[in-house]
Amino acid sequence: EEQLTLVLFLGALAGPVVDPHVTAVWGKKVALKCIIDVNETITQVSWEKIYGKSSQTIAVHHPEYGISIQGEYQGRVAFKNYSLTDATIILKNVSFSDAGEYVCKAVTFPLGNTQSSTTVTVLGKSTSL
Ligand SMILES: *[C@@H]1O[C@H](CO)[C@@H](O)[C@H](O)[C@H]1NC(C)=O
Ligand SMILES: *[C@@H]1O[C@H](CO)[C@@H](O)[C@H](O)[C@H]1NC(C)=O
Ligand SMILES: *[C@@H]1O[C@H](CO)[C@@H](O)[C@H](O)[C@H]1NC(C)=O
Repeated sequence: EEQLTLVLFLGALAGPVVDPHVTAVWGKKVALKCIIDVNETITQVSWEKIYGKSSQTIAVHHPEYGISIQGEYQGRVAFKNYSLTDATIILKNVSFSDAGEYVCKAVTFPLGNTQSSTTVTVLGKSTSL
């Protein structure tokens, strides 16, 4: 009976609210929205870029250790808000290599991990919209 309850709770944990598709313009900045609307204790939020079966961490916000922006993204990525429930990041100076799939992950207690993905398309400067 306990197991059944756990399964039902896991099913009820909604993923973060993201924009499934985002269009960015080369050289400009873009916001990747991620709102974590759960009644859980949020113990970490992060963004990762997906490369096939692997992924690269971009930015992490931990309530105790603070904010960390990984390697090549330093100076180009910032969290828009310092609230753990809003993991929206701003990516500056977008290049074509920024196109692809990203995931916003939230580690929550007690229900565990939840994530949602955003696909970024990068348009060239001269493209007329
Ligand atoms: C969080 O809890 C409040 C009050 O119990 C409820 O109204 C709200 O719908 C809950 N939100 C989520 C995302 O479960
Ligand atoms: C940050 O989040 C708080 C609480 O949700 C909100 O009041 C504030 O306007 C947000 N700030 C920015 C810069 O988005
Ligand atoms: C923007 O990125 C390009 C590479 O895509 C780099 O050459 C340029 O220096 C960057 N500009 C700024 C202002 O960081």
